[in-house]
Amino acid sequence: MKLLFIGDVVGSPGRDMVKEYLPKLKEKYKPHTIVINGENSAAGRGITEKIYRQFLEWGANAVTLGNHAWDHKDIYDFIDSEKYLVRPANFPEGAPGEGLKFVKWNAIEVAIINLQGRTFMPPLDCPFKKADELIEIAKRRTNIIFVDFHAEATSEKQALGWYLDGRVSAVVGTHTHVQTADNRILPNGTAYITDVGMTGPYDGILGMGKEPIIKKFLSSLPARFEVPKEGRTVLSGVILEIDDKTGKTKKIDRILINEDQPLIF
Ligand SMILES: [Fe+2]
Ligand SMILES: [Fe+2]
Repeated sequence: MKLLFIGDVVGSPGRDMVKEYLPKLKEKYKPHTIVINGENSAAGRGITEKIYRQFLEWGANAVTLGNHAWDHKDIYDFIDSEKYLVRPANFPEGAPGEGLKFVKWNAIEVAIINLQGRTFMPPLDCPFKKADELIEIAKRRTNIIFVDFHAEATSEKQALGWYLDGRVSAVVGTHTHVQTADNRILPNGTAYITDVGMTGPYDGILGMGKEPIIKKFLSSLPARFEVPKEGRTVLSGVILEIDDKTGKTKKIDRILINEDQPLIF
């Protein structure tokens, strides 16, 4: 089966890219499962119910989150009732929502896990031990297990990739918003990439307008960051080819669409 994952969608420019390119990506890659990271989809901060539903309407089977999950207060109203919204699993016991969800393609189930790193990020429960726990639960139902590891440090991401090699279908990194060129299949069949990259403004800084950020670096004074409404845009993703039975991944290809690199059929 083929799984398409789209990295951190930032604001309306990111959503417009998904709307425009998802039909084309479906035509080109024919994915059976589509997962989108939506942690920045509401003006760069969090997600709303309307946006989440839009992603499902456009073809997403699940939406993952990250450290920005809680930025839009809407989330508290709908996260507990949504079957396909996945927040980082290693938040302390009692946090709203869940970090492991199952989506179905024909009779095949796919487990979607979201975890957040702890290096240069707020402290949370251990993502490695939480992964052990969730894999045990997921394995009772399916061998196909997809992990979106939302983390800052490359070392922490690589460590989780190696730690889970052979136990999950993929460990794909999100959060740093820049696609890395290290996509590979680890020796025991787990696909890995340090960061899938973001979907949204192409000429900003990690999806936000550049001027206030440059000013902040120059002045060390606080500044308000906004998603630019206009300008060039990018879409970043990966496409995985997973063995239906073993859950091992045979292929991971990067997808990067921008003005310098158009989508070629
Ligand atoms: Fe993000
Ligand atoms: Fe993030």
